[in-house]
Amino acid sequence: MSEKQPVVSNRQTPFSEAFKAFIGTDWAPYPAELPEPLPAAAYTPARRAAVSKLFPGERLIVPAGGLKVRSNDTDFRYRPHSAFAHLTGLGTDREPDAVLVLEPTDDGHDATLYFKPRAPRDAEEFYANARYGEMWVGQRPSLDELSALCGIRCAAIEELDDDLAKNAADTALRILADADPELTARVVALRAEHQTGQQQAAEAADDQEQADPDAELATALSELRLTKDEFEVEQLRQACARSAEAFAAVVADLPEAVRRGRGERWVEGIFGLHARHLGNAVGYDTIAASGDHACTLHWIRNDGDLNPGELILIDAGIELDTLYTADITRTLPLNGTFTEAQREVYLAVLEAQQAGFRAAVPGAKFSDVHAAAVEVIARRLAGLGILPVSAEESLDLETGGQHRRWMVHGTSHHLGIDVHDCAQALRENYREGTLREGMIITIEPGLYFKADDLLVPERFRGIGVRIEDDVLITADGNENLSAMLPRTPDDVETWMRNILES
Ligand code: GLY
Ligand code: MN
Ligand code: MN
Repeated sequence: MSEKQPVVSNRQTPFSEAFKAFIGTDWAPYPAELPEPLPAAAYTPARRAAVSKLFPGERLIVPAGGLKVRSNDTDFRYRPHSAFAHLTGLGTDREPDAVLVLEPTDDGHDATLYFKPRAPRDAEEFYANARYGEMWVGQRPSLDELSALCGIRCAAIEELDDDLAKNAADTALRILADADPELTARVVALRAEHQTGQQQAAEAADDQEQADPDAELATALSELRLTKDEFEVEQLRQACARSAEAFAAVVADLPEAVRRGRGERWVEGIFGLHARHLGNAVGYDTIAASGDHACTLHWIRNDGDLNPGELILIDAGIELDTLYTADITRTLPLNGTFTEAQREVYLAVLEAQQAGFRAAVPGAKFSDVHAAAVEVIARRLAGLGILPVSAEESLDLETGGQHRRWMVHGTSHHLGIDVHDCAQALRENYREGTLREGMIITIEPGLYFKADDLLVPERFRGIGVRIEDDVLITADGNENLSAMLPRTPDDVETWMRNILES
């Protein structure tokens, strides 16, 4: 096992022998009782069994990934790879450099979680290692403790390479390659070393492109998350409910955000405060886009003022400790009342979203939701006299597509541990796939009329509107998990007034 270099600052004074003898003494023992299993631990065996079924007889390696340097000797807050989190139930902060291995057996796979357990208090790691030492990062789990939390057998990471080398000549190996490049390089080398001459000859003779075994595993792990189990639905329900609280807190502070200047940052900050307090963090960088900034789809610079009379588009979601995140957008009038022009644009987007909701039913195509929403967008653009061709001509994407100038993005994506979940799923199972009960998708049409767009009537210039909700596909339709936030212009105005007057 080649170990990552511990981060030792060049500012650190060397430790004396007296200190080394002294540091391990007179500490109370660690708790004798093991922790309760994580709530997710009741669900992860079924998820691992589903992967096991797809790859019988093969050794499957799913790393959590390591800490990522933010700058110099400072790391980003740790986040495990989403596929690792899904299969182990581990979320916030756990567990840097851990590796889940599914070892083939006669009738499935046995899971082992390899990681670096806490070091004894007299070990140098305890006091001198800023990445792993308990004096630096707080109490870390023992093998037994992490095993009790996850319901998975645990082993020390030092044993991993030897275990992977066992029967390597007879056991196919697959690794989730993007999670841990260093381990992936070792696994690829091990695979090459044990590939038989016969296999090499077969590959050389084969004109056909070889399937990439690791890409197939990544696809399978991503597709496994296309439908959510009961626990995941509950997590996303909670992520939406808490995000709605944070949106309300933002509205309550809008007057302050206007007063201070650089109000977009203030909005981002208020949402972030509640995200850290009610969950783990924001699930992605908050977009707080006032006025024309709303027409920049990923406006995360958020350094603008808030000008009363303008709209503010807020695209934000709270991620829970389990890493499931909401992804919600509301577009609000800063002074509490939509102008006529703002309302007109808003209603067109709302009508498109309603069409998307109607299309989001089990058995429909994923792409039907977008098709339904953009049909409304194209017709409304034509009705406003903005579209230079007919709606029909524009909706023919091969020869038209002009409406995309004002809504260039898609209407939906899967949502879960990643805000854009299941990204490695095959096109036929995602973009061209069928909606099924238990899927959770966003429905998020928009219209963006840039201030310098000469095709747009002047009264609409600088208006950008998106409405985004998180939607569970149910047995007979769908459920809007973010429905606690108002969507119609009248309901938005009433909601804002109630918050600002309370
Ligand atoms: N917040 C990113 C998105 O809506 O997809
Ligand atoms: Mn989204
Ligand atoms: Mn969003």
